[in-house]
Amino acid sequence: MKVIRVNDYETMSKKGAEIIISLVQSNPETTLGLATGSTPIGLYENLIQDHKENGTSYKKITTFNLDEYMGLDGDHPQSYRYFMDHQLFNHIDIPKEQTHVPNGNAANMEEEAQNYDNQIKAHGGIQLQLLGIGNNGHIGFNEPGTAFDSRTHIVQLDESTRKANSRFFDSIDEVPTHAITMGIQTILESKQIILLASGASKADAIHKLITEEPNEDFPASALKQHDNVIVIVDKDALPDTNLKLTDGITLEDLA
Ligand code: PGA
Repeated sequence: MKVIRVNDYETMSKKGAEIIISLVQSNPETTLGLATGSTPIGLYENLIQDHKENGTSYKKITTFNLDEYMGLDGDHPQSYRYFMDHQLFNHIDIPKEQTHVPNGNAANMEEEAQNYDNQIKAHGGIQLQLLGIGNNGHIGFNEPGTAFDSRTHIVQLDESTRKANSRFFDSIDEVPTHAITMGIQTILESKQIILLASGASKADAIHKLITEEPNEDFPASALKQHDNVIVIVDKDALPDTNLKLTDGITLEDLA
């Protein structure tokens, strides 16, 4: 796991975008795993700007998003389908049918979860998966205690996650209680992983990610079992650089 520490959110977003743009340019038919949340918005802005200025094309790119709330239709402003359409897909040349977000309103959610995994496999797997990290260490909506061998599944959201996400809703009562998410094993099967974290609220999670051995109480620690992970953090998310790095972690400090 390579940790890159940069000054601020803008630099984090730009660095992450550069990796994705270079992959899309060298492999215009690749499959990307995408994430929602506040963290990747700046990265998506960089992709859009590059698409407009340099013409990087997504016509043959396929995308799979990590997760979706249960019970919200894709046109609900807080659904992750809506988020992706508005933050990225509507502004680049990707055909909508090549963009996949789990359906949080499927009649049979178990079947939806299995189909989602099957669709990823049918596309030859994910080449690069983008991740944020929850304050509690979740990746996707894999909350603490999720088995590392989990595949796409239905989850009950932690109260801490509902509280963190209530900032986007009128009240916490409106935040869905359940979601569908790629499992940790699904995420680990992608060939490359980029995790972004910005701001002091992520400092505890990043400290644990760097210092803890893999354990299911801290889902992001599963990433230590993967051999191609880049973690891009800003100074506020990693204020202390005198950490004891666990095996296999390198730190490049550009801040
Ligand atoms: P955030 O969410 O980007 O809005 O902080 C990240 C996450 O919960 O995975």
